[in-house]
Amino acid sequence: LSQQYDNIIVETPVDGVGQVTLNRPKALNALSTPLFKELNDALQKLDEDPSIRAILIAGSERAFAAGADIKEMKDLTFSQAYSKNFIQLWSTTITNLNTPTIAAVSGYALGGGCELAMMADILYCTANATFGQPEVKLGVIPGAGGSQRLTRAIGKSKSMEIILTGKTFSGEEAEKWGLAARAFPNFEELMKGATDTASVIAGYPMLAMKAAKEVVNQSQELSLSEGIKYERRVFHALFGSKDQKVGMEAFANKVKDVKWTH
Ligand code: HXC
Repeated sequence: LSQQYDNIIVETPVDGVGQVTLNRPKALNALSTPLFKELNDALQKLDEDPSIRAILIAGSERAFAAGADIKEMKDLTFSQAYSKNFIQLWSTTITNLNTPTIAAVSGYALGGGCELAMMADILYCTANATFGQPEVKLGVIPGAGGSQRLTRAIGKSKSMEIILTGKTFSGEEAEKWGLAARAFPNFEELMKGATDTASVIAGYPMLAMKAAKEVVNQSQELSLSEGIKYERRVFHALFGSKDQKVGMEAFANKVKDVKWTH
């Protein structure tokens, strides 16, 4: 955690919560390869740290991230993009974390920035945040899951409109459409709300949290009957955890202050 990075800040705002803040202010947190390598490294370390039970991903008040670094990729050829599987690295770490993640979006979340926010388990934003998939304006299309995750979250027609026009939408709209779990009135309240939720998650038994995250994410991949069976098997597995005994004993004995073993 104390390791120094150039493009991100890693800290522990409250017990059990790891926070990664994107920190390339001069480029509105444009997602360069060095930034993404650091982000993946930090996320992996937080995920492996047993004292961390929830992860917050934030930007600045002005920009969560204004997209992939256009200056870095402008001269990329097809053969370089294809042979290096450009962008594939981006989502591998973050979408495979076991620890629940919350993205806190203020200001711009455009292109890869919007896609990064959508990779988190919970998306919070400010009401006046600016989301969008403006890639068509650059002659390309979303490349880090935007067309798939946005469509699953808000439906085909709205996604088509957003992706084909490159028009932005607000945090208020993101909340109304169900892309964001909540929109907050300003940056301070966003960060407080995100930290509070992360702290609530960190306070619950870690195995139950990881299992809950895993099964909800499976709902995006599996058929209903397969998903329900998957959920039931993971539910069964939690009867092998200490905290299932701790939690249910506490209820049966009317104990209020449960001491989780995590
Ligand atoms: C590189 C960027 C950048 C980006 C902003 N900057 N966005 N650099 N890549 N995506 C840099 C600017 O060049 C500028 O640097 C500085 O940040 C401040 O930006 P300004 O444009 O001067 O600020 P402003 O006028 O306030 O406009 C803000 C903005 C605009 C509306 C967000 O910067 C913008 O449109 N950015 C690009 C948004 C975008 O197209 N995103 C999608 C990228 S494609 P200097 O050095 O001039 O001060 C993408 C593909 C994803 O994400 C697919 C796979 C991941």
